Amino acid sequence: MNENFEPRIVAFCCKYCAYAAGDLAGSMRLAYPANIRVIQVPCTGRIDVIHLMRALESGADGVYVAGCLEGECHFLTGNLKAKRRVAQVRGILKAIGTDPERLQMYNLSSAMGPRFAEIAKDMTARMKELGPSPVNREQIVVLGNAA
Ligand code: FES
Repeated sequence: MNENFEPRIVAFCCKYCAYAAGDLAGSMRLAYPANIRVIQVPCTGRIDVIHLMRALESGADGVYVAGCLEGECHFLTGNLKAKRRVAQVRGILKAIGTDPERLQMYNLSSAMGPRFAEIAKDMTARMKELGPSPVNREQIVVLGNAA
């Protein structure tokens, strides 16, 4: 593990649960790493494969989708669709030789502020362990220029 490496992590958070849990974590003054860039979405069902791939390609070392608990999505099956898409992209990552652990799905409620902070810490620790992402376009350009 490289202690100096600070991973960039994108979190797609449903506004009804994970985003609200993040707010709660803030209100509770729970500390979590500053590596997380939160993108609020109206429901995780709105997240498509291309959004996940773009986030990784654009420089994120890790990405996660945080939606409502299963059975509690405000749009009924949005989080189940997100779960399938995350699984699909994890398959793509594996096929191109990238660790699928770089993409995760979590389910939480708006009352789970401590869980939000715990997920942020877990993801940061995992990405520190994995190191910089090989599908980061910035790194590919640098390598391309070196040749
Ligand atoms: Fe939260 Fe659908 S409304 S995941």
